[in-house]
Amino acid sequence: MAGPDVPLCGIREVDAGHLDLHRRIDTFGRLWKLGADDAALLDSLKEVREAARGHFEVEVAVLSGYGVPARHHRQIHDAILEKLDAMLDEMAEKSNHQRWFAVLDDVEQIFLDHEVMEDRAFYALLTPPPEDGRLAG
Ligand SMILES: [Fe+2]
Ligand SMILES: [Fe+2]
Repeated sequence: MAGPDVPLCGIREVDAGHLDLHRRIDTFGRLWKLGADDAALLDSLKEVREAARGHFEVEVAVLSGYGVPARHHRQIHDAILEKLDAMLDEMAEKSNHQRWFAVLDDVEQIFLDHEVMEDRAFYALLTPPPEDGRLAG
């Protein structure tokens, strides 16, 4: 998952945060494939949640540093964290292999959607402009 699907903005802290987040999601997916138990999967999902929380703080700080109003973007981040918390609560309560797969699928989609749409929308506002050709046009 990490790699070509994750748009880069050229701001090192933001790009590193996205790649780290997707590495953790990959680990979560590998654990699921290996048949890891619920406790290991819960811990892995908690790590994704914590990585997201830290990344969101950095991202909002970067936006604010560039003078970009970040209130709406912060609200989107809060909603993502709330979704992850609801998943963690649900899976701590009751889970099975198929349900974990659905959670993994949701988590991958939530972050890809956010990065490709909402994060990418502000990339053009940040200078220096990204050198990554995928962002052109
Ligand atoms: Fe982001
Ligand atoms: Fe974001």
